[in-house]
Amino acid sequence: MAKDFLTAIRERRSLYAISKESPIPDQRIKEIIEEALKHTPSAFNSQSTRLVLLLGEQHNKLWDLTTQILKSIVPEDRFESTRQRMEGFRSGYGTILFFEDQSVIEEFQQKFPTYQENFPIWSHHTNAMHQLVIWTALETEGLGANLQHYNPLIDERVKAEWKLPETWNLLAQMPFGKPTAPAGEKQFAPLGERFKSFDWQAITPVGDTPPKDKRLRRPCLTRTSAFTKVDAKL
Ligand SMILES: Cc1cc2nc3c(=O)[nH]c(=O)nc-3n(C[C@H](O)[C@H](O)[C@H](O)COP(=O)(O)O)c2cc1C
Repeated sequence: MAKDFLTAIRERRSLYAISKESPIPDQRIKEIIEEALKHTPSAFNSQSTRLVLLLGEQHNKLWDLTTQILKSIVPEDRFESTRQRMEGFRSGYGTILFFEDQSVIEEFQQKFPTYQENFPIWSHHTNAMHQLVIWTALETEGLGANLQHYNPLIDERVKAEWKLPETWNLLAQMPFGKPTAPAGEKQFAPLGERFKSFDWQAITPVGDTPPKDKRLRRPCLTRTSAFTKVDAKL
């Protein structure tokens, strides 16, 4: 039976020990990416996200070129750990590259000038949503993944190697493969500091009487500050 949604969300982890095997066919990986592209929300349905799947030799090439670029900037005495990290990603089955198409963002900025400052921000939001959908979907299929950010260092080489449009802006790389070791322990900051819940209760507009019928009362979050005086007895 397929996992329920929150179980999949809980079990998605950053997995760094991944192998060159996949429990599912390549076609299923492509389907996951296509489903994510079609159904993940985007501001004004702008659909600015672009994805590239690299498998086999193409995946190896990405991590070889990233290693090469890093070698030219990381001090020699620190390079060994970088090389091992790159080797870890290269040991995976494939990598998904996440881009945002700047031409779409500009088009929507022109179409909706009131929101022009928001579109670049919203484009990052939708890209992150695609990342989570795919990361979680891969997890449900038995694939482990992690999230990397070697952009902008590798941007030009990546665009040249796979002949990608100039307007595609690289935001993240997600290597994945069959997990060979579990994820590390995860610490959780207290939920009490991260979550506030305003339950149904009587909210009295200042100097006003709340409706007796509870069903007519609104949750606090829908009221403006002028209406937040609460009479706990009601
Ligand atoms: C926006 C964002 C950026 C991240 N960047 C990196 C990264 O560059 N390298 C990396 O190894 N992990 C990166 N991660 C993974 C986080 O470190 C990881 O999700 C977090 O520690 C929680 O662990 P979990 O993924 O196992 O739940 C990133 C995660 C997010 C959401």
